[in-house]
Amino acid sequence: MFSLRNKVFIVTGAGSGLGRELAVKLTGRGAKVAACDINEKTLEETRSMVSDPELIKPYFLDVTDSARVNAFPGIVKAHYKSLSGVINNAGIIQPFVKFSELPESEVRRVFDINFFGLVDMTRSALREMDRNQDGFIVNISSMGGFLPVPGQGVYGASKAAVKLFTEALYAEMKGSNIHVSVVFPGAMATNIAANSLGGEAMQASSGKTAVPIKSTTPDVAANIIINSIERGKFKIFVGKDSNMMQKVYRLMPVTSIDIMAKKIRKMTAG
Ligand SMILES: NC(=O)c1ccc[n+]([C@@H]2O[C@H](COP(=O)([O-])OP(=O)(O)OC[C@H]3O[C@@H](n4cnc5c(N)ncnc54)[C@H](O)[C@@H]3O)[C@@H](O)[C@H]2O)c1
Repeated sequence: MFSLRNKVFIVTGAGSGLGRELAVKLTGRGAKVAACDINEKTLEETRSMVSDPELIKPYFLDVTDSARVNAFPGIVKAHYKSLSGVINNAGIIQPFVKFSELPESEVRRVFDINFFGLVDMTRSALREMDRNQDGFIVNISSMGGFLPVPGQGVYGASKAAVKLFTEALYAEMKGSNIHVSVVFPGAMATNIAANSLGGEAMQASSGKTAVPIKSTTPDVAANIIINSIERGKFKIFVGKDSNMMQKVYRLMPVTSIDIMAKKIRKMTAG
């Protein structure tokens, strides 16, 4: 078991949903958090949820701003005098449309945030982390990163890229003090659909989002993730759906794709 007390973490996308819960709960375990987001208002709300102001510092940071992401871990290290790790959580979904209707700009936007932002932050964080101390790289993929969801093909591809990248990083870091984890949340009840708005294409999806009937709360998801980080777990499946579907996918890859497609058709029909 690793203790997170006095560890210093960067958490991206900490203004909402899972990132907020991760940031707040990390401070609950005695960690210090550099909480980043593009939404300063919600980031401030996250900060106000932490009673000890020494344990959290909010930063406006767009993970697609590669120059700032490159410099950012150094800024955090200068403030807290160390850097123990990063939770690359910031992410968006794509408009819920078929690939043929998805503008190219949306494809790039999804990859810029979900994949390239995460890769840039991982690189710059690793540079600042003390290799003689325990360190943590935690990348948030998705159930959609191993099981395709119709209408979210590009999102899924970006999360599959996160999966493979993080698996390779794990292999490269094995035997070192840097502990690498990849997280596959199933459906979580967050504002991700609204927060992902930004392109015209999202408007064109006419608010069609697949709202799953049963989903994990970000509060429960964050506890599962933090407990798993403390145990040095590499692959973290969050929620009954993700845990079940990863088993089904391994045994019956084509059938599992058909099951998901049927479920989405049913949800979007009404
Ligand atoms: N909600 C789900 O069902 C679900 C399922 C599987 C995986 N995930 C993943 O979990 C992570 C968190 O999602 P969530 O559901 O909490 O979403 P959310 O929208 O509630 O939170 C995401 C946060 O990221 C921020 N963000 C967006 N673009 C950013 C950028 N360029 N730079 C910095 N911050 C940015 C948003 O402002 C928001 O505060 C994402 O990576 C998402 O893909 C979510």
